[in-house]
Amino acid sequence: MASKVARVLSVLSATSVVTATLTWPPSLPSVPETYPNLTACVNEPLTYSCENTTAIANTCCSPTPGGLVLQTQFWSTYTGLEAQGQLLPKNSWTIHGLWPDNCDGSYEQYCDLSRQYDPDPSPKVLPNGTPVPAYTGPSVVTFIEAFHRYDLLDYMNKYWVNQGASNPTFWAHEFSKHATCTSTFDVACYGPDYIEHEDVINFYDAVVRAFKMYPTYDMLAAVGIRPSNKTTYSLAQLQTALRSQTGATPYLGCGYNGTVLQEVWYFHHVLGSEQYGHYKTLDSTTNSTCSTTKGIWYYEPTPSSVREVR
Ligand SMILES: *[C@@H]1O[C@H](CO)[C@@H](O)[C@H](O)[C@H]1NC(C)=O
Ligand SMILES: *[C@@H]1O[C@H](CO)[C@@H](O)[C@H](O)[C@H]1NC(C)=O
Ligand SMILES: *[C@@H]1O[C@H](CO)[C@@H](O)[C@H](O)[C@H]1NC(C)=O
Ligand SMILES: *[C@@H]1O[C@H](CO)[C@@H](O)[C@H](O)[C@H]1NC(C)=O
Ligand SMILES: *[C@@H]1O[C@H](CO)[C@@H](O)[C@H](O)[C@H]1NC(C)=O
Repeated sequence: MASKVARVLSVLSATSVVTATLTWPPSLPSVPETYPNLTACVNEPLTYSCENTTAIANTCCSPTPGGLVLQTQFWSTYTGLEAQGQLLPKNSWTIHGLWPDNCDGSYEQYCDLSRQYDPDPSPKVLPNGTPVPAYTGPSVVTFIEAFHRYDLLDYMNKYWVNQGASNPTFWAHEFSKHATCTSTFDVACYGPDYIEHEDVINFYDAVVRAFKMYPTYDMLAAVGIRPSNKTTYSLAQLQTALRSQTGATPYLGCGYNGTVLQEVWYFHHVLGSEQYGHYKTLDSTTNSTCSTTKGIWYYEPTPSSVREVR
């Protein structure tokens, strides 16, 4: 943007007279809109997902059946692709995704194979025997660029970081595995003027919005729980700190027999759409895999794996 302004200014100074036909600001390609048509939703009964007492008639208005919505994050100490510049954000957890669990905790995956953009599906065959073909088309980065959402792409590169493979393959995986099972991102919700991939952009915006509600690093640091390779924390300390700011106990995931902190999942019911609605926090429906008796390591990342992003 700065270089574009500089170029226009140099054109201005080179011509002594500003002609009436010169428009300001200079015309830029229009940015396509990326929201569903929720007009019909204003007449739907107000209810949190999984708490409706009558059938939700229009599934664009409330995520169903995936009404138990999880905002999930990772704590990592390296990416494995440091040499390619894929680094972790300093002083922040990273995005995993936004998942539609069914109200009973089970879940669906890869629900619309016409929107299969995942180059490395996991699983490769669904429980019902349907294969999930590997995607070989253009990267989801090209989808984001087609909508001129360089701001979104920049944020995703900073905070939605993969381990052992490139970031865009992870973003594609999350969309095709999970968003295709979230009814408020169904193609039909975008109406007859649907522009291909606007649901993808809309989902990525929703993921970022949900992630920003949970600054896990800051919530822990604010009570003195900082990454350390010298001291451990108890599960209760970690849970209490997060509960004090969210009103619910999230799921904490640990590796190495419950001794190394790796993940957090925040649970919700959502009033309205997943894109714009209100998220109500709920206690985790899954027991923590972190030890209740041993100390838990919240490791400092490898210094060369981290960059300042703020
Ligand atoms: C949105 O949907 C409503 C019906 O629910 C329809 O009347 C309206 O024309 C739609 N708007 C657009 C822009 O498609
Ligand atoms: C809530 O809405 C869903 C989707 O319409 C429906 O399947 C479910 O039965 C509803 N729950 C109740 C208690 O009516
Ligand atoms: C977990 O504990 C078992 C038994 O002490 C040990 O054999 C195993 O190596 C441990 N696994 C990890 C990943 O630390
Ligand atoms: C979680 O742990 C509690 C206490 O150990 C146990 O009673 C309960 O069955 C566990 N729940 C799940 C879903 O495993
Ligand atoms: C802290 O320990 C982890 C796990 O062993 C390691 O990957 C990381 O590089 C260490 N960080 C620092 C700053 O020593």
